[in-house]
Amino acid sequence: MRIGILGSGLMGGKLGTIFARAGHEVVFSYARRKEKLEGLARDAGWKARAGTPAEAAQNADALLLAVHWSRVDDVLSQAGDVSGKVILSCSLPMNAEDTALVIAHTTSGAEELAKKIPQARVVSAFNTVPSEVLFGVSEARLKDRRPSLVYCGDDESGKAVAADLIRDAGFDPVDAGPLRIARYTEPFALLVAQLAYEGDGGPELAYRFERFEE
Ligand SMILES: NC(=O)c1ccc[n+]([C@@H]2O[C@H](COP(=O)([O-])OP(=O)(O)OC[C@H]3O[C@@H](n4cnc5c(N)ncnc54)[C@H](OP(=O)(O)O)[C@@H]3O)[C@@H](O)[C@H]2O)c1
Repeated sequence: MRIGILGSGLMGGKLGTIFARAGHEVVFSYARRKEKLEGLARDAGWKARAGTPAEAAQNADALLLAVHWSRVDDVLSQAGDVSGKVILSCSLPMNAEDTALVIAHTTSGAEELAKKIPQARVVSAFNTVPSEVLFGVSEARLKDRRPSLVYCGDDESGKAVAADLIRDAGFDPVDAGPLRIARYTEPFALLVAQLAYEGDGGPELAYRFERFEE
């Protein structure tokens, strides 16, 4: 696949590198310095390059939205027309201090994002995992007992793309249902962050949803 990274920080930088190493063509975009994007592309290998958000969006099979909530409008305006594109969003609707969700209960960041870009196919994914563990999970590539990663969205073909990329990153994709379920996965992401950074779980905390059978 051709994957555009909109926001090449902790999440976008790592996931873009993992996708490029898994064989996808990746364009890193949106950082404050062009040299950072070029460095990421160099480290990720020959499948990756640096570009503008518009270049990342051009011909992309999937776009990863990985910016702070306050930067969503800016990066989308730079990306241009995203009609028909699969947008995997790991962006959480956080306040400026990153201490609380600014949207919850009756809607979600993912649903508000989908309203901004109604022609795009928004899938909420990768926001329930701390960036620190992404390389470890992808390198371990466990066959059984992979950590679970929940995702949700309203477009089935977009969700199939997301599930492939979640598997490529070393996780077991768990379809949580339509996009409105992001109302529950976004607060769940804060629980994971709380356990990872302030509890005694640590960022390497892994979770699996197990099926109990007789
Ligand atoms: N980090 C996590 O563990 C984690 C986990 C789950 C969900 N999330 C969510 O994922 C999203 C991304 O998080 P993150 O930790 O990856 O954030 P981040 O490291 O701050 O990355 C954001 C990217 O946006 C770029 N950026 C910010 N302002 C810009 C501007 N004015 N012009 C151009 N580029 C600009 C940053 O550039 P620079 O590289 O130059 O700073 C960086 O590349 C957030 O919504 C967060 O809530 C994060």
